Amino acid sequence: MSTPLTLRAEQPLVPGWAAGTITLGCDYNPEQWDESVWVDDIRLMRELGVDLVAINIFGWAQLQPQPGPFDFSRLDRIMAMLHEAGIRVNLGTGTSSPPPWMARIHPETLPRFADGTLAWPGGRQAWCPSSPIFRQKALELVTAMAERYGDHPALALWHVSNELGCHNALCYCDVSAAAFRTWLRQRYGTLDALNAAWGTAFWSQRYGTWDDVLPPRATRSAGNPAHLLDFKRFSSDALLEHYRAEESVLRSRSSVPVTTNLMVTAHIQTQDYWSWAPHLDLIANDHYLDHRLGDPLAELAFSADLTRGLAAGRPWMLMETSTSAVSWQPVNHAKREGELVRTALGHVARGADSICFFQWRASRSGAEKFHSALLPHSGTAGAGWASSLELSALLDRLSPVVGTRVEARAALVFSWQSWWAAEGDAQPSRLLQYLPEAHRYHRALRSLGVTVDIVAPGTDLAGYDLVVVPTLYTLTDDDARAIADAAASGATVLITPFSGIVDENDAIRPGGYPGAFRELIGTVVDEFRPLAAEATVLLDSGRRARIWSEQVRVLSAEVRDTFVDGPAAASPALTRRAVGAGSAWYTATVLDDEGVLALLRELCAEAGVPALEVGPDVDIVNRVSATERFTFIINHRTEAITVPVAGHDLVSDERIEGSAVVPAGAVRVIASGRSDRGH
Ligand code: GAL
Repeated sequence: MSTPLTLRAEQPLVPGWAAGTITLGCDYNPEQWDESVWVDDIRLMRELGVDLVAINIFGWAQLQPQPGPFDFSRLDRIMAMLHEAGIRVNLGTGTSSPPPWMARIHPETLPRFADGTLAWPGGRQAWCPSSPIFRQKALELVTAMAERYGDHPALALWHVSNELGCHNALCYCDVSAAAFRTWLRQRYGTLDALNAAWGTAFWSQRYGTWDDVLPPRATRSAGNPAHLLDFKRFSSDALLEHYRAEESVLRSRSSVPVTTNLMVTAHIQTQDYWSWAPHLDLIANDHYLDHRLGDPLAELAFSADLTRGLAAGRPWMLMETSTSAVSWQPVNHAKREGELVRTALGHVARGADSICFFQWRASRSGAEKFHSALLPHSGTAGAGWASSLELSALLDRLSPVVGTRVEARAALVFSWQSWWAAEGDAQPSRLLQYLPEAHRYHRALRSLGVTVDIVAPGTDLAGYDLVVVPTLYTLTDDDARAIADAAASGATVLITPFSGIVDENDAIRPGGYPGAFRELIGTVVDEFRPLAAEATVLLDSGRRARIWSEQVRVLSAEVRDTFVDGPAAASPALTRRAVGAGSAWYTATVLDDEGVLALLRELCAEAGVPALEVGPDVDIVNRVSATERFTFIINHRTEAITVPVAGHDLVSDERIEGSAVVPAGAVRVIASGRSDRGH
């Protein structure tokens, strides 16, 4: 199920990295502009210090306005101009959105929603990931691109498609149905095995022929959870297969590294990126602050830590972010004074060595004309351009951090597949949500100043002192063993409710919940007793909890807290079992934010992980090399903070003795020698 990361050998990455500076980059859409504007664009890119531009992301309709030969003349010219200016190119294969003729001539390439409705062209990404015709047309373009530009001197990186699965991840058309059946045959071999895995004895769902197996289209009742889970897996694999098809064309004709921009974010859950990561030469993420969330900055930190997990700790690229507002949220908030620098550094602190923006020049037309850009509608006269210049200068000063690794002694186990499965239609409570729970534990650790590596299930956790396992609902036996091994070898492990409940087919692990962790935690859950939406329960410690309670039987653990009231009154709410050199804690409820903080404080103390108590609006992260430590301090608060750290501040170019005072809204990156231990 989960694929432990095996990365390619170290690859030469994009120039800029090699040169030891943080890469500043952007998407550039020259097809939206007259060529006379290009001259100005390139002059200003040089003035700003842009190293890398992503072009041809949406170029297909310009290259092939009608079916037939490609017209590369404009792309040739902009490639040459960028090269002449010393700006490197992150070249889109251009397949992310087909030209309008595709839907007219090949309407069967259009995707369908679960209720059978057609997704029409007119937006972007109107293609079915399993369509052989779309694949063929896309690969014709990729082949022509690779042959023409594969050894172009400006080319630094291949950018396959764009945000694969942003709009078309789940397609329910007949073409997808056939591809789903092929995928299932490969997974199960026989129909009997599929029937067993999906538990189709239930509700008369047994399949007698492969032809009857469909995507989980809209139904009047809850669907089959195992069917839904496999369709998500298939859909993620279908897009990965598309990536790999383009990748293989590129690799056969060019030796330049290949990647695509991932969307490690709260509002996209459809790709299991643990299985994608090994295929990318460089992990690249797109991240935008999401103001629909309670704490967008905490989510930025989570996304960046997870992206670093995908990169197996190696430096990664922020392929897209915004200088200020986006254009796709209900209210598109502009960044406040200094926020561009703070958010960009939030990514650098957590391992990004390239910071790239969507986009270079703000569009005049189209659905993103109100999206911010490095060069805003006001041109170079306003504050927008001034903040772009400020950021560029700052990134230059941070060159010494390039190539260093983030130091973390805590890990959080994250699973897209548990995210998919835990939030199914027929669970004990819809109020228990996977991602918010993962976010809450990460957010609490961040506010304790504890840096967290976010890792895949099955990762070898040796070397971590603290391991947090939020709502890991589905996992394999091997995944469970890796967590138990961490405790046995000395880590403090915390498991939160609704973890270890089912196997990889979403079938209950029998014998009392949580089947995968019962032995490890030394307790068994006899019954879930979820709470009503507004209800809270009181625990013996005085802590309050919401959403979830359980009737717990202790087998071989200490009871550290108990439900005082609510449907599980008198039952254990928090247990601890000493395991080998470490321990396994289990919480049987959803503690409120203060409760999570208090629990993690206790666990950090037990694990020997220093908690700095910095609060929710401060990032403190160390990047280290063999000899140096760079302490990033990002103060999102409206008052100054003081942090005990000494060294040379790369931001202000000042010597800091004893402790650093970081003014409201300011950032510090303090270089010092490396003396104490790190992970
Ligand atoms: C990304 C996308 C870009 C642009 C950007 C706007 O999802 O890759 O093309 O649309 O969002 O925020």
